[in-house]
Amino acid sequence: MAGHGASKVSAEGVLATFPELRDIEDASLRDIVIEIWQEVLDESDWERLEDVPKHPHKLPASSNLVDHTRTVTQMAVAVAEAAERVRGIGYDRDQLIANANLHDVSKLLEFEPTPEGGQGSRFGHLIQHGAYGAHKMWQKNLPMEMVHSVLAHTLTSRYVPQTWEAVVVHYVDYLDSDALNLQHGVPLNIRK
Ligand SMILES: [Fe+2]
Repeated sequence: MAGHGASKVSAEGVLATFPELRDIEDASLRDIVIEIWQEVLDESDWERLEDVPKHPHKLPASSNLVDHTRTVTQMAVAVAEAAERVRGIGYDRDQLIANANLHDVSKLLEFEPTPEGGQGSRFGHLIQHGAYGAHKMWQKNLPMEMVHSVLAHTLTSRYVPQTWEAVVVHYVDYLDSDALNLQHGVPLNIRK
């Protein structure tokens, strides 16, 4: 566990993997986000964040979770900036970056490594997607609105996002997912 012996990844390593986290101004929030990645990686069977797939069966292993997380975080900030510039809609930049960065951290436990790259784990079969990331955030006393954003980001949650930050993360997550699905000839999430 973080703070007790060596983690699989250092705090600097997490920052190098997710440079977007450097834009979180509140140093204590940034440290908590880093700690969550370290702790969940240590709890998982993965050795490196770079090895975790975005989705083990649907997409090739080259579509990894790190690139998805980074794209979603950058997209979230870009969308919130545009809506603020044109419409004057305010948002909490630190919280938006942290929510977007942590939205899929639970995949470290929901998937497990195999020689082929990875597969769904028993954890992922039993515990709803996103719930563990939300649990870690709550455990570290992050605001309920942030916990909500991670819990509600997925269509597997019956709860509809209730804050602007949560709405943005939800849409850009599916936007980047469908960018990958389109690229790889996999059916889109869009339903009509
Ligand atoms: Fe997700």
